[in-house]
Amino acid sequence: MRNLSLDNITEAASSSFAGLTDPRRRHLVQTLVVALHNYAKDVQLTHDEWRDALAFLHRTAAMTHDSRSEFSLLSDVMGLSSLVDLLGSAPGATPGSVLGPFHTAGSPWRDNPVNLIGSNAGHPVVLRGQVCSVDGQPLPGATLDYWQNAANGLYWQIDPSQPSDNLRCRLKVDTEGCFEMATVRPVPYQIPTDGPVWTDLVQPAGRSSWRAAHAHVIVAAPGCRSLVTEIFDAEDPYLDNDAVFGVREALIGEFKPTTDASLCQRLGLGGDTCLVMQLDLRLAALPAAD
Ligand code: BEZ
Ligand code: FE
Repeated sequence: MRNLSLDNITEAASSSFAGLTDPRRRHLVQTLVVALHNYAKDVQLTHDEWRDALAFLHRTAAMTHDSRSEFSLLSDVMGLSSLVDLLGSAPGATPGSVLGPFHTAGSPWRDNPVNLIGSNAGHPVVLRGQVCSVDGQPLPGATLDYWQNAANGLYWQIDPSQPSDNLRCRLKVDTEGCFEMATVRPVPYQIPTDGPVWTDLVQPAGRSSWRAAHAHVIVAAPGCRSLVTEIFDAEDPYLDNDAVFGVREALIGEFKPTTDASLCQRLGLGGDTCLVMQLDLRLAALPAAD
């Protein structure tokens, strides 16, 4: 390859990856090379700008390790994580939303209905719902993997005062596909503001650091595509400018007072009334095997 020019360098760089044997990987890499070249041409990228961008990526790498990924945060604040979630959402199914950095594999199995409140401060609430297929058939084999932050805004991983299994659990739905969970109302919290993603990119853009209050859930059922999603509180002030673009209309539920005293009692909440959000979750079937 010599005599490379603006006219042929993109084709040369892209076809240099033709030897990648996995066809999907080859497609991903070659298409990325073309997209990056087109971007540089579109914006007429200068040498200084290219070096600045690399320096930013170096700073991002320096803040990335086993328990913290500044690269994930970069993907989140650029809306890329949410775009991938939306691309993976099946028609008719509950849309996916960001996994975020605070999922812990192997949460304790708890009996359904469950009360996760323990010694947590905050406002007691009930989350309940039914897991169904896209055509409304209950999925009694479904499981939930649930986690949320505490009343101080923090997840257990970054708050030594919380026990390590605080406000998280796995749960089997009942024979009707239903679940009930007493917990504390999730509160809004800020994305990390001590790294280059915030200081060099998000803050200079005048954007908010706040995530709308949410709970996370991974829903799985035999024969269905697993769903990684979030549940949002309709009264939250940050629904319209969530820092990581996680909010979808179908994921917003309202906490409403109930007078169903038996529900409050079943979940071990004192009194005859409590705030309840009903949010049903729909899973798409797995594609049929060839
Ligand atoms: C979260 O949902 O916990 C989260 C998502 C993206 C960045 C930071 C936190
Ligand atoms: Fe979160």
